[in-house]
Amino acid sequence: MISTQIFQTLAASAVGLRTPYPIRDAGVVADALPPHLLPEGFDRNVASFPLTYLDSTASTKMIRPVRETLEAALAHYANSHSVTHGPARISTHAFEKAHETVMGFVNAPKTHAAVFVGNGTTGAVNRLARILFSDGRRGGRDTVIFSGMEHHANILPWLKHAPYALGVPVDPSTGTLSLERVEESLKSRRHRTRLLAVTNISNVTGIVNDVAALTRLAHEYGAEIFVDAAQTAAHKAIDMAANQIDYLAFSGHKVYAPGSPGVLILPESASPRVPDEMGGGIVLSVNLDNYLLSDRLPDREEAGTPNILGAVLLARALKTLQGIGMEAVWAHEAELTRQLLAGLGVFEEITVYGDTNFDRTPRAGVVSFDVKGLHHAIVGQALADYFNIAVRNECFCAHPYVKALKGVTREELEAFEAAVQQGDHSGTPGMVRASLGIYTTEDDIERFHAAIDWVVANAERLRSEYEVNRDGVAIRRDGWRIDPESFGIL
Ligand code: ALA
Repeated sequence: MISTQIFQTLAASAVGLRTPYPIRDAGVVADALPPHLLPEGFDRNVASFPLTYLDSTASTKMIRPVRETLEAALAHYANSHSVTHGPARISTHAFEKAHETVMGFVNAPKTHAAVFVGNGTTGAVNRLARILFSDGRRGGRDTVIFSGMEHHANILPWLKHAPYALGVPVDPSTGTLSLERVEESLKSRRHRTRLLAVTNISNVTGIVNDVAALTRLAHEYGAEIFVDAAQTAAHKAIDMAANQIDYLAFSGHKVYAPGSPGVLILPESASPRVPDEMGGGIVLSVNLDNYLLSDRLPDREEAGTPNILGAVLLARALKTLQGIGMEAVWAHEAELTRQLLAGLGVFEEITVYGDTNFDRTPRAGVVSFDVKGLHHAIVGQALADYFNIAVRNECFCAHPYVKALKGVTREELEAFEAAVQQGDHSGTPGMVRASLGIYTTEDDIERFHAAIDWVVANAERLRSEYEVNRDGVAIRRDGWRIDPESFGIL
């Protein structure tokens, strides 16, 4: 195995930095329980008590090359619509290169264009849904088929915009999506399916779908495919041209570039007669009663002043990953994922969701689990409070998948839905999720295992120290909570 230190050193030289560990940006060291609240003899197990960030699936931290680019780009920041002065030309040039970088990173075909859109992958999928159905049911194809392992961004826009949307259930015992079931759905909507919308990698289990096979299947039935690459772009190589992927989306905030927008890659021919959003930058001429539109993407779908800095930062992150090589990134994270799973596997009290046999089911660095007898919110909160470990708990914006994996019954679902409508979220079905990034180290995983060991051994104590309130948040009965105001950000 390639050790974390060697990986980081290789990564450093690949991106042209001299120091090892260039990728890890210390970021915020959050506060944690003050010593007087710690149990007697408690060993935090972490000398300097750094933040152990295991929430990269929600948002990655900024990596150092991106921070350096932020400073460089800020120095020359101006609007990309101005053309004469130096800063405008520099910003415009960088913004154009950001498009090219995205296209190159996913090996998009020449027939396609990359469009930056507002709020992450969600913005990109909503945009695609509006684009595809702006002109109704093209050729009588009114259906979008999506999988049961999608996060909400790849479900809700289809439920809203597609005349007919159909979810394909996963196998709850393995968390996998079977090609046979996808094919059954395609058959059931033969000649009606416009699009198959699937994630490449699950944000709950890290399970990797066979995108090449799904694409072939969709095309066989005359449908197109949209691949949600939100959890892929930072972790695994993507090749749109080789796999003939029609549409793809991801977001910079999950690719080491916080503050960057989502990006949608689509064929130029998909652009509707009238763009989805109207405003400056998409037109050749405007009169009081008519207008002449630009005929090219991305202009047609990027009305208004774009998020120039965010797009540039995303491009820097992608270039950094390219410099390291996606095969090396995947290998590094796969090794850490095995370590993470092996350490959790020794606890009888822990259930890990989704097939953990790598040979049968490829997985990325996303592991969701439960600790028997402890509410997921308490596990997450105790990891943060005692160990300064950042994980996420609850449903990860993937309700159908989490409910399927947990085997939530109809009665339980009805009770949960009745409760949330009364404002009580304490019974929301959920799990705890640890997720990795390029900066994750073996030490991070060891600290996490040590912390989990303590949590399991102290389950009873934690149940008495915390209660889960109606917001579904675990609150310490002694009243201590991190005080965000004290960090003075705003
Ligand atoms: N998709 C985001 C997550 O998994 C929201 O945390």
